[in-house]
Amino acid sequence: MKVLAVNSSPRKDEHSKTKQMLTALVEGMREAGAHVDVVDLKSKKVRNCIGCLSCWTKTPGICSIKDDMTSELFPLWIESDLAVYASPLYHFTVNASMKAFIERTLPVLQPFLITFGTETVHPLRHKHPKIALLSVAGFPEHSVFSQLSSWANFIYGRFGMLSAEIYRPLAEALSLPSLESKAREIFDATRQAGREIVENGKISDETMSGITRDLVGDVKLFHDVGNIMWKTCINECMSPAEMWEKGLVPVPGSIADFRKLMLFGFMPQAAGDMKAVIRFDFTGSREGSCSFTIENGGIRASDETADSPDLTIETDFDLWADIMSGKLDGRQMFTEQRYKAQGDLGILMRMHELFGV
Ligand SMILES: Cc1cc2nc3c(=O)[nH]c(=O)nc-3n(C[C@H](O)[C@H](O)[C@H](O)COP(=O)(O)O)c2cc1C
Repeated sequence: MKVLAVNSSPRKDEHSKTKQMLTALVEGMREAGAHVDVVDLKSKKVRNCIGCLSCWTKTPGICSIKDDMTSELFPLWIESDLAVYASPLYHFTVNASMKAFIERTLPVLQPFLITFGTETVHPLRHKHPKIALLSVAGFPEHSVFSQLSSWANFIYGRFGMLSAEIYRPLAEALSLPSLESKAREIFDATRQAGREIVENGKISDETMSGITRDLVGDVKLFHDVGNIMWKTCINECMSPAEMWEKGLVPVPGSIADFRKLMLFGFMPQAAGDMKAVIRFDFTGSREGSCSFTIENGGIRASDETADSPDLTIETDFDLWADIMSGKLDGRQMFTEQRYKAQGDLGILMRMHELFGV
């Protein structure tokens, strides 16, 4: 099987969830024996269709625009058995680069009008490759893909040309350290989907449920933590990608924010069977306490002060916020006695492993 995999994310590969999902899919396809060419549209020149219809009249089957689509990509596309269209979801559909690529496949059609069922269509000039659509979205609900899916089924599905639809909501969360093991399962399922498309021509329900599995159970907590991140980006005048590259994480503006970040950032795989109560007593710009109980690989928070914590941290709130966000080194601040820790200091040493702070 010859496959052309087209990635339309404009982002650098290390930031692009489209590219990361596509890479897993392509690995699976290659494992199953397919020959796959991967094309990143951000490094190609694909101009918008200008609607001249020369490809239907003056030079049938050949586009008049001289760019990478005409010279390289259309010939690869037309020779492929399957084209994977991998696009970030922008405004609930494929992004403009992918749409430009798709519009430039017009030479595959002839201008004539014929009836298909009860509707008017143009006949094909050549065999059209089958299509697998892959898209990733920022929002957590699967319904964000319903318009895209409806369009894909109308344009390709009704002619039996749509081999697969792979949609991953909440894709930005795939790079969060606290969700690493779930993300790995999603990438493994995507790799399996690649194998199944090549071997069986479709993706099994089991594999699809692995790809679409829930990433964060508590959507309200996800909204709150996402909003803390956006406030941090605005205050620090940085894009999320710049924060990620600098190793910075969201800064809590209140004890309530702090509690949410700790709950969201908790890494169950690092905790294992650990059982501990950690109490924070804050002074300075925000005064108050909160406690966390780690047990059975889970965590719960309480505003109440735990009576017999295993570890108590007494700290200025802004200092701890700077440690959390990566601006200050927690160990160095401890050595310099800028905050106090009492009890099991082994837990303090594991804070980074447990919460990424
Ligand atoms: C211009 C623009 C429009 C977007 N529109 C949507 C949208 O309609 N629904 C959604 O859930 N996410 C939307 N997003 C978020 C992206 O789909 C999400 O960040 C995705 O992970 C980006 O993929 P990439 O990392 O491969 O570029 C949009 C992002 C941008 C920049």
